[in-house]
Amino acid sequence: MALAEQAKRVADEFEFGKEDVRKAVKEFIREMDEGLQKDGAELSQIPTYVTAVPNGTEKGLYMAVDLGGTNFRVCSIQLHGNTTFSLTQSKVAIPRELMVAKTSKELFSFLAKQIEVFLKTHHEDHYFSHIRRRKTGDQIKEEEIFNLGFTFSFPVQQIGINKGLLMRWTKGFDIQDAVGKDVCALLQAEINELHLPVRVAALVNDTVGTLMARSYTSPGKTGTLLGAIFGTGTNGAYVEKLDKVTKLTSNKDAGDYDKSTGEMIVNTEWGSFDNSLRTLPNTPYDVELDAKSVNPGIQMFEKRVSGMFLGEILRLALVSLLKDPKIPLFRDENSAQNDVHSTTQIHEDSPLWKQWGIDTSFLSICAGDQSPGYRMTRQTLDKDYGITAVSAEDAEAVRVIAAAIGRRAARLSAVAIAAIVIETGRLNSSSTSAATTEKKESVEAPRGEGSSVADKDVIDVGVDGSLVEFYPGFEDHVRQALMEIEEIGEAGEKRIRIGIAKDGSGVGAALIALVAGRVGEDSE
Ligand code: BGC
Repeated sequence: MALAEQAKRVADEFEFGKEDVRKAVKEFIREMDEGLQKDGAELSQIPTYVTAVPNGTEKGLYMAVDLGGTNFRVCSIQLHGNTTFSLTQSKVAIPRELMVAKTSKELFSFLAKQIEVFLKTHHEDHYFSHIRRRKTGDQIKEEEIFNLGFTFSFPVQQIGINKGLLMRWTKGFDIQDAVGKDVCALLQAEINELHLPVRVAALVNDTVGTLMARSYTSPGKTGTLLGAIFGTGTNGAYVEKLDKVTKLTSNKDAGDYDKSTGEMIVNTEWGSFDNSLRTLPNTPYDVELDAKSVNPGIQMFEKRVSGMFLGEILRLALVSLLKDPKIPLFRDENSAQNDVHSTTQIHEDSPLWKQWGIDTSFLSICAGDQSPGYRMTRQTLDKDYGITAVSAEDAEAVRVIAAAIGRRAARLSAVAIAAIVIETGRLNSSSTSAATTEKKESVEAPRGEGSSVADKDVIDVGVDGSLVEFYPGFEDHVRQALMEIEEIGEAGEKRIRIGIAKDGSGVGAALIALVAGRVGEDSE
């Protein structure tokens, strides 16, 4: 069979049609309800103890750190109180060996060290005056301690605003002795060892940070409903009615929270939506990826949607084609042998032969390649993947499969967004979130997503992550799927405004640290 047909056959395996989307939305809604009622459900639906979203008037200087799946960021944020902020940040890649370290101390002492370096570089005066005071035994003033928001992008059972127990690792991390521990205490202990003027004031999931940041920068009349990450991992946090979070009232260990807004942000942990595969697609490549992952059987939605995994799905699909000597992908036509390695143009050390060898950014390159004969795709295959003399037909085959994987990921993402929009009843009302703190009449509208929908009808969604940011057409695919869902349709889809909340988790964590560490003059 011709290469193009083979590629189409594989691409078709990733088809996730209208009916599939609809069924998955129903299941998502069911799991949302279940997770609000009890612990241990597939969707964790973690109460965050954050009961209000900001309105853009908050002020002050805060610190935030963000342990994501790939990088560790340290930042200080000056909130100007007029929906704007300035941010100073540093970023380091998390060394692979620390992701699977023997002890959590190895990871957390590395994190504290980065905070120290940041303070010395960007807040020199503050840092050295603190050191001087310590040496001379002078009293350390409360206001000289930085309140820090800790964005920790893994599932945590939150038991207070700066206290939470790690439930499980995701995204390739695996440090067993941290599971069940309070990650704020682990970080504070290392900060104290270095005598840094920093208090871990709030523990924040990156999705909650994104929701907060989006609400700060784009308040308008509508509070943001959902903050979502489509990056190395995927997840969403949304504003839920407090009386629906019934597991909070039945749990005697639940901490205190403000009930006045009648709402609470809930961290869905949707990466583990439908772990039992009632409605998720399951190709042979998904099966293989899962079996060889560090956490088989869990984060099944994430394994089909997020950046950590899409490159690997593509790699497995391509390797399956290469296993068949009759399929002319990357074949050296002058060679008649049937052995995979000797008849291909693929270097034997090519990342194509290694688990995680293909980066998801390659899918973005494929999707965005409009050069004649797919020159960009071919060059990348040559330069980054050791596959030489790639023909235009080869490149086209790779692109067709890559596009199908990207499209499926976007349509699955739409399932999560749609379920939350439907389940929160936002489509039925012109709603302003009660949890949005007041005083926002004077806020101007330009948010760049320029829609003609009246402000009161907008359903605002803040997103962040490499996939939404860099995968060409990701949002278009999401929107297409949203329109296909009966309850949403074209009219509903128009009301959903999706906006990037760049640096959201840092700013959001600072905002939560602000609320948590409120010391009078900081807030207004
Ligand atoms: C984690 C979430 C996180 C998401 C996005 C997932 O693997 O479980 O807590 O929000 O990645 O970073």
